[in-house]
Amino acid sequence: MKVVKVGLLGLGTVGGGTVNVLERNFSEISRRSGCELVVSRASARDISRARICNTDNIQLTTDSNEVVNDPDIQIIVELMGGEEPAKSLILSALAQGKHVVTANKALIALHGNELFAAAAENNVILAYEAAIAGGIPIVKAIREGLSANRIEWLAGIINGTGNFILTEMRDKGSAFSDVLQQAQELGYAEADPTFDVEGIDAAHKLCILASLSFGMPLNFARVYTEGISKITPLDVTYAEELGYRIKHLGVARRTEDGVEMRVHPTLIPEKRLIANVDGVMNAVLVKGNAVGATMYYGPGAGADATASAVVADLVDICRQLDGSAASAVPALGFASDKLETLAILPIEQVKTAFYLRLSVQDKAGVMAAMTTILANNGISIEAVLQKEPKQQGADAQVILLTDCVLESDLILALEQIESLDSTNGAVTRIRVESLQ
Ligand code: NAP
Ligand code: HSE
Repeated sequence: MKVVKVGLLGLGTVGGGTVNVLERNFSEISRRSGCELVVSRASARDISRARICNTDNIQLTTDSNEVVNDPDIQIIVELMGGEEPAKSLILSALAQGKHVVTANKALIALHGNELFAAAAENNVILAYEAAIAGGIPIVKAIREGLSANRIEWLAGIINGTGNFILTEMRDKGSAFSDVLQQAQELGYAEADPTFDVEGIDAAHKLCILASLSFGMPLNFARVYTEGISKITPLDVTYAEELGYRIKHLGVARRTEDGVEMRVHPTLIPEKRLIANVDGVMNAVLVKGNAVGATMYYGPGAGADATASAVVADLVDICRQLDGSAASAVPALGFASDKLETLAILPIEQVKTAFYLRLSVQDKAGVMAAMTTILANNGISIEAVLQKEPKQQGADAQVILLTDCVLESDLILALEQIESLDSTNGAVTRIRVESLQ
């Protein structure tokens, strides 16, 4: 059987996992790919560090260029993360006619347009299944499995760390910082965990999913992004009383006015399947106009799960080694000259329902004043929950669920409500999605 040499850039959680999966399933992978995949070289910052995989037969170096420039290596797997030196190393590998696999969603979201063009120019493949939703083969599902469809919308829990934190907070009442530390120890979090917590990682993935779904160039700058750091146990509890779960969701939707791309905490009816996706698990709902709604579920982070996606890309490349990369599935699933630049809606022009929580003085007329302002701005109320103050003189909490509202109208109404003497502090607002 033909031996195909692979060079790894990065030997941490995903790099180590990739070596382990290739070793553990060597025979099965060879039977599928028709090649013997051998990791011959790998780079890391510190080659004396203990690794989660066996490195006996791998030549280690701190100089990634040695890996990229090795003439015997046909496929480079970039698992170091970050923009540089990852981008320059990938461009160098592509220019040398080497295929590249990466799990680096930040790099694809920010520089994918340039990198895919470089891959096409050099007649090689740049594969990135592991960049989105860990082990779930979501790129393959959208790019190939759903290619008959005009995709209308997608919504996903696409950050394992964030979902793990929200689940542990809800189920065990754990403190945010403790759970984040646990996620880091388990290898789920990004090198800079604010990427997970503030929604940047999910926004990278959403940007790629939107381009794959709608056939448009990558446009990370236009993804509206909110993280989970401001979610309080109080809101988790009140949402549950109203029959909802709070999830950190990425949503991409085509509307008549343009495309929505947004990442934010979201109330989802608890009976929806995706509301029950817990821990490090991810799920992506994709609505196609032929198939209807489909959902893809699986582990969103971790060494072996992510390695599963990396190795699947390696197998795909092995199957293409004798052909032309021009006949491979296009990087974003649409012919590169058929990508369309679509209008992207600013968040103020997006319509969603809202969960609102207000701290108000416990006196007559307060509720009437608030509901009058909402009504005057054309906002109707679906549900109301009022919580009496815990002690004499303290604020009452009023929780409102609105109907679908244009975000700019809601902003106007909340400015008026927040300026009432009876309202204390800013109104907590979380979007609500029924996902139907
Ligand atoms: P990690 O555990 O921190 O591993 C990064 C590896 O890259 C380490 O081995 C590190 O060396 C090496 N490295 C970093 N900078 C380097 C440089 N300048 N030169 C040479 N080596 C360098 O990170 P990870 O969790 O495996 O993530 C890797 C990539 O996969 C990232 O793009 C991440 O977003 C993506 N990803 C991760 C997961 C996950 O569950 N962890 C899932 C999907 C995608 P040292 O070990 O010596 O420090
Ligand atoms: N930090 C990422 C997450 C890794 O938690 O989802 C997988 O992309």
